[in-house]
Amino acid sequence: MRVRRVMLSLFFVAACASAVAVGVSAQAPAPAAPRAAARVHGTLLQVMRGILFPSSNVIYAAQDTDPSTIKPDADPATSPNPLTSAYGGWTAVENAGLAIAESANLLTIPGRVCSNGKPVPLARADWSKFVQELRDAGMAAAAAGKAKNQDMVLEAADKMTMACSNCHDVYREKRTGPQDRCLPQ
Ligand code: HEC
Repeated sequence: MRVRRVMLSLFFVAACASAVAVGVSAQAPAPAAPRAAARVHGTLLQVMRGILFPSSNVIYAAQDTDPSTIKPDADPATSPNPLTSAYGGWTAVENAGLAIAESANLLTIPGRVCSNGKPVPLARADWSKFVQELRDAGMAAAAAGKAKNQDMVLEAADKMTMACSNCHDVYREKRTGPQDRCLPQ
């Protein structure tokens, strides 16, 4: 530890000396530590299949089955079904709503492409509107899970169906074929 501190101050002296040598003020603030930036890892198709599809199914399942009646799996810690897992029942509904709302953020970060290589149309006003609808539906489902309220689940599920299909109608369902996905109508 001690050795480390000595090394650091030696480094500091050397850094100041070189700053002076190139004519930069020795008092210039140290550069801020780099922030962990959002990064893109999957196509839009993969985000839909990997996050939105399974999370929305948790909310849809809770329309017909009261989550408080769902029995946990024999080993809930390893259950791949959120509803029967260690964080199951109403907690799973709340978490799925939050996963959907968080996924709205993933639909707004730059650099993602669709399965056909076209960029996600972030700059389009209707895209932002559809993403906001998704966010609102996710938060409505999260509130329903938190309140353990089946009527609220029904409303949130309707909202979600609309949010998914409003965007799909414009950017996914293309009469001309999947090569035109993510292009405006
Ligand atoms: C803001 C727009 C938008 C919203 C909101 C949206 N989607 Fe999508 N979705 C798309 C687009 C565009 C594609 C096609 C992506 C591609 O081909 O890369 C897609 C594709 C999909 C696919 C894959 C279909 C296939 O061809 O295999 C699934 C599943 C899916 N969405 C589910 C959902 C669900 C469930 C919701 C709502 C909870 C939702 N999406 C909300 C735009 C959206």
